[in-house]
Amino acid sequence: MRSTLALAASVALFLTAYACTSKRVDAPAVDEAEDAGVDAGPVCEGSGIQKGPFVVASTKTSATIRWETCRAGTPLGLAVTVGAGAPRAVVGSESMFTLTKDYEAFLTPKAAKDHAGPVWTHEVVVDGLTPGTCATYALDGDTSKTGAFCTFREASDELRFVAIGDTNPGLLRTGPLLAHAKSSTFSPDFVFHLGDIQYYDSRLETWASWFPLMQPLLALGGFYAVLGNHEFENATDYTEFYHRLFERKGFEGTDRWYTFESAGIVFVVLDTESPMDDASEQGRWMKSFFESLEARKANADYRGAVVGFHKPFLTCGDTYDNPTNLALWEPRFVAAGVATVLMGHMHGYERFDHGGRPWIVTGGGGGAIREPSQNMARSYCNERTKGGGYYHLMRARSEGAKLRMEAVDDTGVIVDSFDAPLLRGPRTN
Ligand SMILES: [Fe+2]
Repeated sequence: MRSTLALAASVALFLTAYACTSKRVDAPAVDEAEDAGVDAGPVCEGSGIQKGPFVVASTKTSATIRWETCRAGTPLGLAVTVGAGAPRAVVGSESMFTLTKDYEAFLTPKAAKDHAGPVWTHEVVVDGLTPGTCATYALDGDTSKTGAFCTFREASDELRFVAIGDTNPGLLRTGPLLAHAKSSTFSPDFVFHLGDIQYYDSRLETWASWFPLMQPLLALGGFYAVLGNHEFENATDYTEFYHRLFERKGFEGTDRWYTFESAGIVFVVLDTESPMDDASEQGRWMKSFFESLEARKANADYRGAVVGFHKPFLTCGDTYDNPTNLALWEPRFVAAGVATVLMGHMHGYERFDHGGRPWIVTGGGGGAIREPSQNMARSYCNERTKGGGYYHLMRARSEGAKLRMEAVDDTGVIVDSFDAPLLRGPRTN
């Protein structure tokens, strides 16, 4: 039985977790408590599928789907269905990976643990599709494990996507949000996650417990995330989970910052855990890439860009802002035709009408709401047109020469809606 002292320590850690600190936690007390506790070890039952499936990358003609099993030799394939067509069998591959750490969620004793030991990462590439094809799939190993995706669209098409940040489903506030990510009139092609995907620090969840809780979101379409500070909570978090599971082969950029494009709208994913000054590797890539977008501004197949990163350049909430990066990059964003900037980290919602375009803090995906108006004395806070402690996600759709966006709270109420200016409507030829 765990000691009272260990429990008290874990509660203290829980209470500090929601500060969304940028401090990297190298040696969680999890190992100490694990030594004192009783662990029955990993259980591998049924189909063996324990994480996913989820879509990690698309092109105009393909989609890459992954899932994880707890043993070797399970079925490698899935069945893809497009519209009313017959299911098509596609076979992929598996590769063994050895996890090196045990972790448990102290405050949710029934949550599945992350166990050290071998796991098998599965990958299937569905190709030969046409742009804008939307399909569903079911795994051969368990046909109840399903999902959907859309290939990236031509610039003549319109686009729908969901944005969400700071998901901490173990707190049980993320789940109710996910029901509002799709409706009879809104079906997203993909999810754009603004970082802090999973929170070991909350002591409420593990990667093993995160996946089943998040599957309703993962099943909607592609899952494209920016890196947050909580992707680095210990020495293995990024390498053994985030990178192994979500590495986006085929996207331009690197493992940590990258870009993709659908319907003529370019998504630029940046990493606020890495430097982005002009002398840095990321900064050089950013400068070159935004210049390439500026060179496309007259082209009918370029409609504008959406930039996403985790730690906000501007916020009136209880986290740091970054006026240095704001001053450096905003003129380049504007020159490149950026329609809106989406950020996370501050657990709440903020919309700034800044420089003629909306800058949005969308960090209300389930981490405990903090103080979204703690620093209203900051110089730009007179530009904040909406702000509050909402658990929420964003629904976005292109409509001609604008991006129509709405923030939806966990009861389904639209708490804010606005337009972001695109350069032009869909290409007409
Ligand atoms: Fe964060």
